[in-house]
Amino acid sequence: MSAIDLFSSFRLGALDLPNRIVMAPMTRNRAGPGNAPTPLNATYYAQRVGAGLIVSEASQVSPQGLGYPGTPGIHSEAQIAGWQLVTEAVHAAGGRIFLQLWHVGRISHPSLQPDGALPVAPSAIAPVGQAWTLDGMKPYVTPRALDTAELPGIVAQFRQGAANAKAAGFDGVEVHAANGYLLDQFLRDKTNRRTDRYGGSAENRARLLIEVTEAVAGVWSGERVGVHLSPTNPFNDIADSDPEQTFATAVRALDRLGVSYLHLVEPDPIEPAPSLPSPASGAGKTMTPLDAAFFRPLWRGTLIANKGYDLARANAVLQRGAADLVSFATLFIANPDLPERLRRSGPFNAAERKTFYGGSAAGYTDYPPLGT
Ligand SMILES: Cc1cc2nc3c(=O)[nH]c(=O)nc-3n(C[C@H](O)[C@H](O)[C@H](O)COP(=O)(O)O)c2cc1C
Repeated sequence: MSAIDLFSSFRLGALDLPNRIVMAPMTRNRAGPGNAPTPLNATYYAQRVGAGLIVSEASQVSPQGLGYPGTPGIHSEAQIAGWQLVTEAVHAAGGRIFLQLWHVGRISHPSLQPDGALPVAPSAIAPVGQAWTLDGMKPYVTPRALDTAELPGIVAQFRQGAANAKAAGFDGVEVHAANGYLLDQFLRDKTNRRTDRYGGSAENRARLLIEVTEAVAGVWSGERVGVHLSPTNPFNDIADSDPEQTFATAVRALDRLGVSYLHLVEPDPIEPAPSLPSPASGAGKTMTPLDAAFFRPLWRGTLIANKGYDLARANAVLQRGAADLVSFATLFIANPDLPERLRRSGPFNAAERKTFYGGSAAGYTDYPPLGT
């Protein structure tokens, strides 16, 4: 029997994947009017169907969940119709695609919110930094803390988003609980200072994520639901005093729900996140790296590893058994046929950063495949 590598097939819940290469979710800010996907977006995703699985860019589940110009939503009829263009193009080309369900929480601005309202968050703590608005960069405002009675409404937004994703023809959904957005803001104690049953202990801080994931798995079966976590990513001014305890608790609770996969943003392989030492490791000592190997014993389902992978590191993490699949983000921007390039060990096009977020076909659908 040959060793497992990126090109081995894999059974992910209800889906047969031809390889273990996942296209990671990537915001590209190129939705059309009404934040609905367009034929250009369909072309972009169809170009990348060599991935065993594509996870779409984050898609807001409600107008309140919006935090940037031009990100697609999954809450209106026009958005569902736009996403249908994408799922049909991906399926016609032989691919599989999940939608990433998103609520930005405090990473927004009144000018992007319905009726100019304040963005919402677990607690009224402003992020350090600036919001990207339709009128350029503006300082973040102090968000409004959600009332306990409003939280079933947040769960309902995700539930409806999941139902809309089904109507749009996706193969499943991924709950975005990473990168400093609403569900991550509830998880981590720098942003969650609540005193109700959604704050305080790690169990309480994981409660909203668990309720959202349960609701989403009630719409799809659990085998078509994944969850995205980034325990050590400081992006969007977020942190936790004990990420090991917080995320071990959250992952154990998610594991009990029996959903399909955990998609993990690991510490940066070049610059591991400077997290606080955990109580167990003692002051001044390096904390346990919260990587795929750390979570593996806590998680019975599929584990997708992410962050800075290349061919050699990806095959190594699969062969160690720490992960089942590996996702690639930046490499997929510039290399629509990334799986084939990995198979041949390159060459790889370089990604142009200035066209990552917003714009047209340039830097989006015009990266050349091999042999052109
Ligand atoms: C342009 C860009 C947009 C991104 N948008 C999202 C997103 O919408 N949702 C998400 O969970 N992560 C997003 N990420 C993070 C990636 O999914 C991934 O975690 C990160 O880029 C590390 O993977 P890599 O080293 O293969 O690039 C984005 C990354 C990039 C470069």
